[in-house]
Amino acid sequence: MAAWEAEKDRTVCVTGAGGYLASWVVKLLLSRHYTVHATLRKPNDEKYVHLKKLDKAAENLKLFKADLLDYNSISAAIRGCDGVFHVASPVPSGSVPNPEARPFSIVELVEPAVKGTLNVLKACSEANVKRVVVVSSTAAVVMSPNLPEGEIIDEKCWSDGEYCKAINNWYCYSKMVAESEALQYAKEIGLDVLTVCPSYIFGPMLQHDANASSLILLKLLKDGCEETENKFYNTVDVRDVAEALLLVYGRPEAEGRYICSPHVTTTKDMVETLRKNYANYKYPKRLIEVKDQSRWNVSSEKLVRLGWRFRPVEETLVDSIESYRQAGILD
Ligand SMILES: NC(=O)c1ccc[n+]([C@@H]2O[C@H](COP(=O)([O-])OP(=O)(O)OC[C@H]3O[C@@H](n4cnc5c(N)ncnc54)[C@H](OP(=O)(O)O)[C@@H]3O)[C@@H](O)[C@H]2O)c1
Repeated sequence: MAAWEAEKDRTVCVTGAGGYLASWVVKLLLSRHYTVHATLRKPNDEKYVHLKKLDKAAENLKLFKADLLDYNSISAAIRGCDGVFHVASPVPSGSVPNPEARPFSIVELVEPAVKGTLNVLKACSEANVKRVVVVSSTAAVVMSPNLPEGEIIDEKCWSDGEYCKAINNWYCYSKMVAESEALQYAKEIGLDVLTVCPSYIFGPMLQHDANASSLILLKLLKDGCEETENKFYNTVDVRDVAEALLLVYGRPEAEGRYICSPHVTTTKDMVETLRKNYANYKYPKRLIEVKDQSRWNVSSEKLVRLGWRFRPVEETLVDSIESYRQAGILD
């Protein structure tokens, strides 16, 4: 029996389905013959039209209006599902939200991440969902002054909440608290919950408006600034993250956390790779070396042992640019 036949007729829910990563998860699930309950805050918004155009969307995609902080709306979307991919969480541009700005004050960032995740898990438990995959982040892994210096960072490592607060990194705080509370709550109520922690996600967009991580690449191509910092980036391709989520979902032996971050690159490497393929964009004129910046040696070994494969950074970057051109946000 082909693998997809075994998966046939399964129904799963994807939260925040119109977002950058979730759109790829929905696309992959539909291609593997799942029926998908997709939660969206505004299902009739034009910005989600890409979902309706996916192959098999007409037959197998059902849209649900749901907000993470509205339990009944989330519960209605999850009812009848075998599995749930909880992807939705606020992602600001830059780690520090502006307390004055909507929609990313500290409360608006942390509440949906933490309370929203617990709402999803409670609804999963009530609906007898068999397995839940929660998208966390390496933001929940690396942001700590106590990590083993120069050593490999694996799933045992956690960001330090007090440290995140002290340095005003509320995104890391939100992801760390959401993931740790999710695993704790799952243990208490006996729910099968796995978490996947990607680093910076790049790669082609299916949606039309650029999300926070795609904006980092777009800035390198459009800004034409005099100088910018040469930073380290731990990265992964959006399509490889979607594959990782389905891989852990489908493997009975999968358990606990999975770091999903195969590459370390730098601003300089990315600019050089992009310039080699696209000479004419407005790249930064100079890259300044940053002293004492962290270079996290995170390991995706646990995921690779499960059978996960990933593509090279150059393919990710080139495919990103092609998708920005198609979306009309880059000439
Ligand atoms: N991109 C990265 O580099 C990266 C790296 C590591 C981990 N992650 C994680 O990956 C996940 C997806 O991120 P992304 O990059 O795909 O960002 P994205 O495109 O901004 O997607 C985030 C999604 O969360 C939804 N959302 C936010 N608050 C919500 C609420 N209160 N109720 C319901 N939905 C809500 C948004 O819905 P609307 O469409 O209604 O705004 C959006 O669809 C997040 O959990 C993020 O932390 C991302």
